[in-house]
Amino acid sequence: MQIADFALERYFARWEFSVRHLLCASDVEAYPLQELLALADPSMREAWDGLRLGYTESAGHPLLRAEIAKLYSTTARDDVITFVGAEEAIFLCMHAVLSPGDHAVVVWPSYQSLYEVARSIGAAVTLVPLDPHDWALDPDGVLGAIRPNTRVIIINFPHSPTGALVPRSVLDCLTATAEARGITLFSDEVYRYLEFDEAQRLPAAVDLGRRTASLGVMSKVFALAGLRVGWIATHDEALRERLSRLKDYTTICGSAPSEILAIIALRARERVIARSREIIANNLPLLDRFFDDFGEHFIWTRPRAGSVAFPRLRTGEIDRFCAELVEAEGVLLLPGSQFQHDGNHFRIGFGRTDMPQALEHLERFVRRRGS
Ligand SMILES: Cc1ncc(COP(=O)(O)O)c(C=O)c1O
Repeated sequence: MQIADFALERYFARWEFSVRHLLCASDVEAYPLQELLALADPSMREAWDGLRLGYTESAGHPLLRAEIAKLYSTTARDDVITFVGAEEAIFLCMHAVLSPGDHAVVVWPSYQSLYEVARSIGAAVTLVPLDPHDWALDPDGVLGAIRPNTRVIIINFPHSPTGALVPRSVLDCLTATAEARGITLFSDEVYRYLEFDEAQRLPAAVDLGRRTASLGVMSKVFALAGLRVGWIATHDEALRERLSRLKDYTTICGSAPSEILAIIALRARERVIARSREIIANNLPLLDRFFDDFGEHFIWTRPRAGSVAFPRLRTGEIDRFCAELVEAEGVLLLPGSQFQHDGNHFRIGFGRTDMPQALEHLERFVRRRGS
């Protein structure tokens, strides 16, 4: 298989575990194991203590799939297949829906696998950019990009790296078009439940159609990235069948301990989600103040959801800025070039509890650097 390097993941592989503060992480501060186990109901505590470490069911533990199905309003257990992270789900779903010569439409900027896997299959990809002033999506841009051989439209709201959302009307328009044209709408919803105003939460794509697929994961709002548990929920039976057959060639089945831990978290989801939302609610005002104080250096387009934002550096070059910052202060930001985006933006994350300390270092660096 020929596939371009995943720039962001290569960047993280270089820096993630050696810097003092990861100020560009997209996950939420991970649960310690003991804290998570304390949330277990008696039956899951028993399941954990008596767990046998054998192979697991290929589609995922039935109780896990049942808990995931409860996150949506139209799904039952059999509409869900689990994967090792959202990443495996993206990889296999692209292989399930695309062949060489097909076409995919992808909202951009984007997590690279959402379009790179399609390219590696030999599909043509049209990237539809968000408006850089406010990160709004013009649905006509997506509709205009559709070709007779378009097999999949890929969206991601809440959006990474910008924290943007779309109005419900835009989601409805895209869903209706995909359904009418027999195109799969693949909706990366890994930041769902992290809308700052809960009234702006969009319905999950799976609940809006028969050809839609919702992507979820334990890594972000559920604060359990190390479990590597992701899933696809879809009413499209043929798609689920293809996904199951492809999974036999990647991981076959999920990790037994991770499945039990994911069930525990999903059963306690109100508390788990509240914890993540609280971390973010504490961090965001600090970012607002920082970008207010340093408005001559940065343009801050406030995110509306998620755990990352994509501000712009006004003066100087962002790659150099990030390189000097990590060298001087041990604080990692992610330059927009890692998204193949050349607008002098950078990704900043606010899901970690050390964000206030990281921001102090950034502030010191910016003051020293001058304008
Ligand atoms: C938009 C988006 N989709 C998918 C993923 C992959 O999630 P995971 O690493 O948990 O597989 C990420 C991770 O950062 C992401 O930001």
